[in-house]
Amino acid sequence: MCGIVGAVRAGGSRNDVIRGLKLIQYRGYDSAGLCLKEKRDLQIFKAKGVIEKLDEKVPASLATVAIGHTRWATHGQVCEKNAHPIEGGNREWAVVHNGIIENYRTMTDELSGEGVVFKTDTDTEVIAALLALNNFSDPVRNIAWAIKKLQGSYAFCAVKKEEDNVIYAARFKSPLYAFYSGDVAMIASDPVCFPKGDYFKLEDGEICKLSQEKIEFFDASGEPIEKEASPYKKINYIAGKGEFEHFMLKEIYETPDAIRRLAINFMNLDFAKLNKLKFDKVKLIGCGTAYHSCLIGASFMRSFLRVEAEALQASEFRYGSFPISRRTLAIFVSQSGETADTIAALEKAKKKGAKTICLTNVLHSSLAEEGEMVLPISAGPEIAVASTKAYSCQVAALYMLTMALKGEKHFYKSIKQVQDLSRTLKSLFINMSEFAADICQKEKVFFIGKGDDYVTALEGALKLKEISYINCNAYPAGELKHGVLALIENKTPVIVIATDEKVYDKTMNSALEAKSRGAKLYLISNKPPKACELESFEMCLSLPSSPQPLRNILAILPLQLLSYNVSVLRGIDPDKPRNLAKSVTVE
Ligand code: M6R
Repeated sequence: MCGIVGAVRAGGSRNDVIRGLKLIQYRGYDSAGLCLKEKRDLQIFKAKGVIEKLDEKVPASLATVAIGHTRWATHGQVCEKNAHPIEGGNREWAVVHNGIIENYRTMTDELSGEGVVFKTDTDTEVIAALLALNNFSDPVRNIAWAIKKLQGSYAFCAVKKEEDNVIYAARFKSPLYAFYSGDVAMIASDPVCFPKGDYFKLEDGEICKLSQEKIEFFDASGEPIEKEASPYKKINYIAGKGEFEHFMLKEIYETPDAIRRLAINFMNLDFAKLNKLKFDKVKLIGCGTAYHSCLIGASFMRSFLRVEAEALQASEFRYGSFPISRRTLAIFVSQSGETADTIAALEKAKKKGAKTICLTNVLHSSLAEEGEMVLPISAGPEIAVASTKAYSCQVAALYMLTMALKGEKHFYKSIKQVQDLSRTLKSLFINMSEFAADICQKEKVFFIGKGDDYVTALEGALKLKEISYINCNAYPAGELKHGVLALIENKTPVIVIATDEKVYDKTMNSALEAKSRGAKLYLISNKPPKACELESFEMCLSLPSSPQPLRNILAILPLQLLSYNVSVLRGIDPDKPRNLAKSVTVE
């Protein structure tokens, strides 16, 4: 997955594209590139790393046309050669692409047979080569001809050396938006790149031509079509880091306000629509952190609605065989709303007749566009790759949704509980530096818990591993003796989460079994430690009181702070960990 931006502006479009690229770095940031089209010349600049590095390389320019790209490598290593724009023919076309061309190997062989010499390891070069293969009088024909040959997903924009002041673009299964005001025409993977105003959403198979004078749309065969602008939707524009050194820390600190805002926004819930949903099974579907919130959501639904509910990873759901019927309620959770697997899972559930609800933080996202009922997570922009405040908002939203499905009285009680939680959370901004210093030299860390605490363990482990690169694993406390204990050595850290009275003693027993094998224990629980616990644990953190279902949100906050501190101590940028991107828009 990658981000693309293109702009046509008299007087220079370089800065429009660089600014746009900086706003969509969440789509990948391992390398970047930009093509300035000045008269009949394509000037291409590339840099490994973040957009700031590219910005330093690209000179000030009056070029009317520019296209740019921020990359998350799928095909070919991270290097300047494989960074986009990719050239086609004899520098006749330059292309930036997001998606995966699934038949690129076959196409590469075919085109090599016709004499095309490939210079990169990317699947994108097939698009560039196809565009350069013919010289139709109207370049829209080149695009229509090329896309017929492509399988997989793509959003691309392309410039042709011989064409003045024009950008061509097309999409299939990867988002692409276009914008036109008298001053500037733009194309991008996310409308956040555009000035405020109405924009167009390209549909699968559509082609777009942007020039200074106008914006035109064509179907997949190159025939002109009329398109209505999507009404302008409020976009959460990204603010800076403020007083914080990193977005991740800022976002953790924003959790209480986000939770409060969420409770207010949930008051607008459409009860009439909700009550019409008749179901006897619930599937909650997401990826990564969103999947963890689905695990908690499923637990809420089983406990409070007494309904069969299970959480599934979208990547598994989309190819697995899971019984779905008209009596299934399928709930999709995604911060970005652009996760390819989650979108594909939604399409599958809809085809099978399930009733669907989407919970997302981005109300102009693809998931929000396709969802039958869309509920906001209301976390505000989340820039750091590690999802923090969005996770807490997802869990709170799933709690209020569960209560709404139970009945109005329960719903309003849950709103009040979530509002109270927002205040309680503030007391958890504690100094984790000592704990972090203890953990930061370790090679492996274990997280254990039972029931919902096991989900907190899973999320705590994911957070720490993705931004510290320490091997972290979470297990249900009762599972240790079934294999995991073999991995416990002298001073292996085991972080124990125990916030559920019903199974508190059971969790303690498992923790002490690990201690007997040399583990160093750290405790996060909902009550002050007993004297014997103080002896056994290196550190005991007791959480402020809150209703049991919401304790997961309290317990995760110190673990997020711990991960942040460990990441910084290890000299890693927690906002942009290696090999990851904020939004996973490819399969
Ligand atoms: O945007 P989404 O919520 O759909 O993203 C899902 C996952 O990719 C995401 O939660 C990922 O696991 C985070 N990096 C975890 O911090």
